[in-house]
Amino acid sequence: MADLRFPPGFEFGASTSAYQIEGSAATRGRSIWDTFSATPGKVTNGDNAEIACDHLSRIETDLDLVAWLGLDCYRLSIAWPRVVPDGRGPARLAGLDCYKRLVDALLGRGVTPVVTLFHWDLPQPLQDAGGWVDRDTVGRFCDYAEAVLGALGDVVPRWMTVNEPFCAGMIGHLQGRHAPGLTNLHSALVASHHLLLAHGRAVELIRAIAPDSMVGSSVLLSDISPASATEADIAAAIRLDGHENRWFLDPVGRGSYPADLLDWYAAQVPIDFIRAGDLATIAAPVDFCGVNYYETKTVEADPGEPYHQAIVLPARLLPDDPPLTANGIDARPAGLGRVLRRLRDEYPGLPLYVTENGAPFHDYVDPLGQVNDPERVRYLAEHLAETRRAITDGVDVRGYFAWSLLDNFEWADGYSRRFGLIFVDFGSQARIAKASAHWYREFIADHALAAIDSGGIDLAGQRSNFTS
Ligand code: FCB
Repeated sequence: MADLRFPPGFEFGASTSAYQIEGSAATRGRSIWDTFSATPGKVTNGDNAEIACDHLSRIETDLDLVAWLGLDCYRLSIAWPRVVPDGRGPARLAGLDCYKRLVDALLGRGVTPVVTLFHWDLPQPLQDAGGWVDRDTVGRFCDYAEAVLGALGDVVPRWMTVNEPFCAGMIGHLQGRHAPGLTNLHSALVASHHLLLAHGRAVELIRAIAPDSMVGSSVLLSDISPASATEADIAAAIRLDGHENRWFLDPVGRGSYPADLLDWYAAQVPIDFIRAGDLATIAAPVDFCGVNYYETKTVEADPGEPYHQAIVLPARLLPDDPPLTANGIDARPAGLGRVLRRLRDEYPGLPLYVTENGAPFHDYVDPLGQVNDPERVRYLAEHLAETRRAITDGVDVRGYFAWSLLDNFEWADGYSRRFGLIFVDFGSQARIAKASAHWYREFIADHALAAIDSGGIDLAGQRSNFTS
């Protein structure tokens, strides 16, 4: 197992986002997710994030858990409505101070803060004026980013701009499953373009205001393949990959939208939102690309089954094989290796971090007060092993961040999906380190998969479907 030891300097971390953990809703402005959660039927059980993990009242004890885990890095996001409650106008010092406190608390514990500027919680007043569909929102984002960089630019060594523009753009404006809940292809394309533009403009600002820090973005990358070698299935997989992955990778990595998708969309709606210079801004060189990996999708052409009604993608996803995570999908670590190798081949020269990876399982506190989650231990071990294999294959991967530090408000799934290393009892707000947290802690301490052996976890004897 010694050859699976990660290279020196490889970083282990965990990720969170502001809206999903902070709570303290009374001391910030309203975001589109507050509105979405208050809309009947949008979020499971009618949950909302007013309290969430009550993290802002528990910064010190939560960050003690980060230190206990031995994380090298911790990825958090800043809530735009906490800094600029109405989305426009002056920044609130109290909001900025709150993040200064968080960053100082991390630095004081020897943990590198990795800070995301936008993780989906758009101020509601901006949505009322059109949200990401309105180009003006990019300017308001820059004002907000400038205020944050003015306050934190000298202490945060690594910035991330926009988290997963696919989700904010397409799930929020085409599928309607996320805030603001629209189902319109043109709006989705315009919003996605403005999210990408916001990324590019933020890169420029970070270079200008915090020239010593590193900057990158994060993309949700699913591993998509055809169900068979038939022309129809291959075409369906290429289309879905274009829609979910290349539409967001190519502008940043190549300064252009993929031609096949441009044609496909242009046949349905006007492509009237790209202005001269936009793509050069979006393609501003970055220091790294963050990969958020959750899913492998197998696509079958099916003219009778539109995958997303609004774009009438004539395909469907093959169902996964049990055992499934609480999200109803199975875990396929090999897909992580494939997306990492793909980035090496198609967008060469870019250092990579796995900035999110994890899964929900049906975790519960047992009569001894413990949370035993062997599925997550296995999930982490296998995805770390895939990451290590990619490094052996010459992929420049520099770190791995588990999603997530804490169980939290999982967007449209509310509190019904537990992704955390740390179990949160949302009633009492008690935290319990799950078995996976203990495992990850030991793993980090050993910096090698060899930790599995010494920890007594027998990978060989466990369920084989977790390796695809
Ligand atoms: C990602 C999001 C993150 C979390 C995980 C499970 O798409 O970036 O906030 O919801 O999924």
